[in-house]
Amino acid sequence: MRRKLVVGNWKMYGSLESNKKLLEAVVEGLRDYRNADYVICVPHPYLCQAQTILQGTNIAWGGQNMHQYEAGAFTGSVAPHMLTDFGCTHVIIGHSERREMAHESDALIAAKFESAVRARLTPILCVGETREEHEAGKAHEVVGHQLDAVLERVGIANFAKGVLAYEPVWAIGTGKSASPDKAQSMHAFLRYRIAKHDRKAASELRIIYGGSVKVTNAAKLLAQPDIDGALVGSASLVAEQFILICRAAN
Ligand code: PGA
Repeated sequence: MRRKLVVGNWKMYGSLESNKKLLEAVVEGLRDYRNADYVICVPHPYLCQAQTILQGTNIAWGGQNMHQYEAGAFTGSVAPHMLTDFGCTHVIIGHSERREMAHESDALIAAKFESAVRARLTPILCVGETREEHEAGKAHEVVGHQLDAVLERVGIANFAKGVLAYEPVWAIGTGKSASPDKAQSMHAFLRYRIAKHDRKAASELRIIYGGSVKVTNAAKLLAQPDIDGALVGSASLVAEQFILICRAAN
C-alpha cells in the first residue's frame, strides 16, 4: 500500500513574516494527521526558516530546484548539499516552469535527478504535456519521453528512489485541473511504462498529481487508484486550504 504524499510548492511567493504564520498554522493543523506524508518546498532563502519551524514536526521541507554539480563557479545556483545542509529531504526537479522559463532540457533534468539521489535527496520529478501537445493528442508520447530521459540515465534502481509528479502544463495555475479520470489514466500509463523495467518498483513508486489541486477536487483526485498524492501550488499558500488538502490525503 503506497502512503499518500502531499507536496506544497510555494514557487516565488512568501516573506519571513507571512511564512511564519503559514508554517505555524500548517504545523498546528496537521499535528494529528499522521497517516500521510507532507513536504513543503520553499524558496531557497527561506530554508533556514522552514528548518527552524518544521524540525521535529510531521512535515518535511525541500527545495524547488538545484544545480546538478556539487560546487563550482555557477553564480546564483544552489548545490545539492546546500539543501541537505538545511535539512531538506526532497527537491522538485524539472518543474514545467523551469523547463519553459529556464529552458531546462530532459538531459539536464536527468542529470539533476541523478545528483539529487547521490546527495540523498528524494527528487520529485515533474512531467507533463502542454496544452498544444494535449490538444494534438500527444500527451502520452511527450510524457513518456520525459520519463524515459530520466529512467535511461539513472536506471530503475535509482529512479525508484524518487517520486514522480504528473503535472499537465495546461492545468497548472489555471484553475482547470485534469479530471480525476483523465489524471488516473495518465498515472496508470506511467506506472505501466515503469513496470516494463521493474514491476515491483512500479507498484511501489509514488506518482502524485499536480495542476490546480484545490480543496474542492483533492478528495476525488486522491481517491483514484494510481494517484498517490498531490503537488499543490497556489493552494499551498493558504493555510486552511493546504491543511484540508493534506487531511484529504490522510
Ligand atoms: P497550481 O500549481 O496548484 O497552482 O496549479 C501546481 C504546480 O505548479 O506545482
